[in-house]
Amino acid sequence: MSTKTYTLEELASIAGVETSEVLAWERDGYLGEVGRANEEDGRWRSVYGFEQAERCVELGGRGIPRRICIVNQKGGVGKTTTAFTLAAALADIGRRVLAVDLDAQANLTTSFGFDPDTIDLTSADLLTEEDVMPEDVILETAIEGIHAIPADIKLCAVETRIQDTMMRERILDTKLASLYDRYHAIVYDCPPNLSRITINALVASQEVIVPVETQSYSIKAISDLTNTFSLLKAKMHHDLLVWILPTKVDRRMRLAGDILDALDEAFRGRILDPVHVDSNLIRAPLLCEPVTRAFPASRASLEYARLARFVVLPDDERQKWMDLPLSTRRKVIERAEHGEEDLGLPDDEEAEDEEAEDDVAVDGENVSASA
Ligand SMILES: Nc1ncnc2c1ncn2[C@@H]1O[C@H](COP(=O)(O)OP(=O)(O)OP(=O)(O)O)[C@@H](O)[C@H]1O
Ligand SMILES: [Mg+2]
Repeated sequence: MSTKTYTLEELASIAGVETSEVLAWERDGYLGEVGRANEEDGRWRSVYGFEQAERCVELGGRGIPRRICIVNQKGGVGKTTTAFTLAAALADIGRRVLAVDLDAQANLTTSFGFDPDTIDLTSADLLTEEDVMPEDVILETAIEGIHAIPADIKLCAVETRIQDTMMRERILDTKLASLYDRYHAIVYDCPPNLSRITINALVASQEVIVPVETQSYSIKAISDLTNTFSLLKAKMHHDLLVWILPTKVDRRMRLAGDILDALDEAFRGRILDPVHVDSNLIRAPLLCEPVTRAFPASRASLEYARLARFVVLPDDERQKWMDLPLSTRRKVIERAEHGEEDLGLPDDEEAEDEEAEDDVAVDGENVSASA
């Protein structure tokens, strides 16, 4: 089991309160069984783990449930990487997460260290067998706080097998509904197509993250996707909140900058802060660990941690942050990461950014805060 410990300050940030409040919760027994460690000077100190982080989420009233579909019918854009790393980054901030693998390639399943060939029941059975329930397929992963529904090759046959099922777009939503209040976040990793399986995931979600590779921008792929979202709204009255996540951004390439600008213009208010090219994202799953655990100081780790903090913010705070142009947000993030003192006196434009920064800060748990 990969466990994580937390400082008092981290718990306060997770709860959105002062450290004194967390200490009061601990004193009054609200933090459960707090571990103890003997310091070199002979004194005892508290060791906080996931249980304390999770309780702080609840005590601070920060357990806003999210159901998020990671979708793009284009292959290799970073869907699985995002599902895996976001799930881990959410668990790192005390959220209980269910990660659902819906791709026959089972890359999310193997990222968690499971061998799909040796698993009996998977998401394919959940979708096709009436008597298979979520409890039968959910696995506890090695990362504290994360459960997973694995996938396997049987998913290839699901499309035809559910062809004649009543309400075939709602199978997943119906089966998982009883779990919605058991997890702070449910994250679906979709296959690279707009099959009925993907539609099932969309119907079971409230929002979607569309990873878009900035090395080749496919307007066609995005417009097919947005048409699908519109269709779901028109036919099923299912309204999805759509976020675009630029991935594999390499700022040395002009094209990446041009694509980011084009995305920002076409989807103003919907573009998440980009994830840059980082080879640690390729290395981490080989160790069966998310980058946030294997390489916590890496750029990708910080960027996905930021995405997780964004995901759990209250809706109005999220929108405030997203209403800022991408370039302004980038400056705010850089400032938070490098420290104010390096920046000198702000000019007019920067002064405006400072105001914006004040606006989006959320009681100790804001998006721009460095890890
Ligand atoms: N930010 C990044 N920097 C570098 N490599 C990345 C980044 N994001 C993803 N990758 C790598 O790109 C490849 C494709 O990523 P991933 O498997 O997440 O895409 P996908 O959209 O799930 O693909 P598929 O459509 O086949 O399911 C993987 O090798 C992954 O490690
Ligand atoms: Mg994938």
